[in-house]
Amino acid sequence: MKNKNKMHAIVMHSYGGPEVLQYEEINIPHLQDDEVLIRVHGSSVNPVDCGLRAGALRDFIPLKLPAVLGVDVSGEIVHTGSRVFKFKLGDSVYAYLGLFRNGGYAEFVAVPEKYLANTPKNIFLHDAGVIPGAGLTAFEAFTVHAPIKKSSKVLINGAAGGVGTFAIQIAKSMGAEVTAICSTSKIELVKYCGADEIIDYTKTPLSTVENTFDVILNCVRGSDNVSFMNLLSTHGMLLVIAGDISLLPPQKVVQFFVQPNGDNLRQLTSLIEGGKVRPIIEKTYSWKNIPDAHRHSETGRTAGKIGLTID
Ligand SMILES: NC(=O)c1ccc[n+]([C@@H]2O[C@H](COP(=O)([O-])OP(=O)(O)OC[C@H]3O[C@@H](n4cnc5c(N)ncnc54)[C@H](OP(=O)(O)O)[C@@H]3O)[C@@H](O)[C@H]2O)c1
Repeated sequence: MKNKNKMHAIVMHSYGGPEVLQYEEINIPHLQDDEVLIRVHGSSVNPVDCGLRAGALRDFIPLKLPAVLGVDVSGEIVHTGSRVFKFKLGDSVYAYLGLFRNGGYAEFVAVPEKYLANTPKNIFLHDAGVIPGAGLTAFEAFTVHAPIKKSSKVLINGAAGGVGTFAIQIAKSMGAEVTAICSTSKIELVKYCGADEIIDYTKTPLSTVENTFDVILNCVRGSDNVSFMNLLSTHGMLLVIAGDISLLPPQKVVQFFVQPNGDNLRQLTSLIEGGKVRPIIEKTYSWKNIPDAHRHSETGRTAGKIGLTID
């Protein structure tokens, strides 16, 4: 019989390839007064999980090993701390956990109340686990860092990925004109998300693009930010979520790291329940196949999100 203080989780004891992710029994997390304990149903694989696992980010975000990765969770509240007021036992909730807590690849996770929102009523509970990190990144981009208005001209690079597919839909819901950059095989996907114009980067070099944009969201690590600077309108802003901005003029460029935020997640939930935004899921893996899910993410070709069921 299972010890009631124990749970299953995907644990890594060392940095390395996908094979370091092991299904094991560990202690259920201790709950702080302002936290809830969630029985996790869904999570997702984000590129940052793979970077953390491989040790590529260890100079900035050193893991305390053994570690449980996973920045996204959806599930049901099974316990509440004494200073939790907005949520109750049995609520279906989701959250972005941030880079310093992680812990979503587990049966249970402790989450501060202020990170939480109720899951959208029109999305299966396990599917909701793909939304928080990528969805909040796109939402934060266009509401906090470069607020967009009706008819803003928005360019999204990496438009077919996890962040990009949310970004197209969120920008459209705000009335923007959206141009999406993707490869040939992803054109139908970005059209489905609502892109007005498409630049196929395998056929059209950025240097030949003549339009300018009020907001450019660059989601592709290693891409040429200087070329994007040349596509900005007079008051335009370049938002960079992956890659180096050190040589770019600070008044025109913002680099940010998405923060856990229950209020923003509630606003995103409204957009989803209103039919303006829906998560695009390329494939959902059982968490017991998580090494394969990491290999999938590491191709760099994911169409939308990779889901995980914590079954
Ligand atoms: N700073 C933050 O807060 C933050 C938050 C979330 C994510 N990120 C980072 O942002 C990046 C994107 O995250 P994500 O979750 O969207 O990744 P993702 O889902 O893995 O992105 C995959 C997509 O990138 C596209 N892509 C690859 N090379 C491209 C290129 N040269 N030009 C245009 N598109 C290209 C692919 O489309 P094609 O097959 O069409 O090439 C694919 O659809 C990652 O590096 C991630 O770590 C940062």
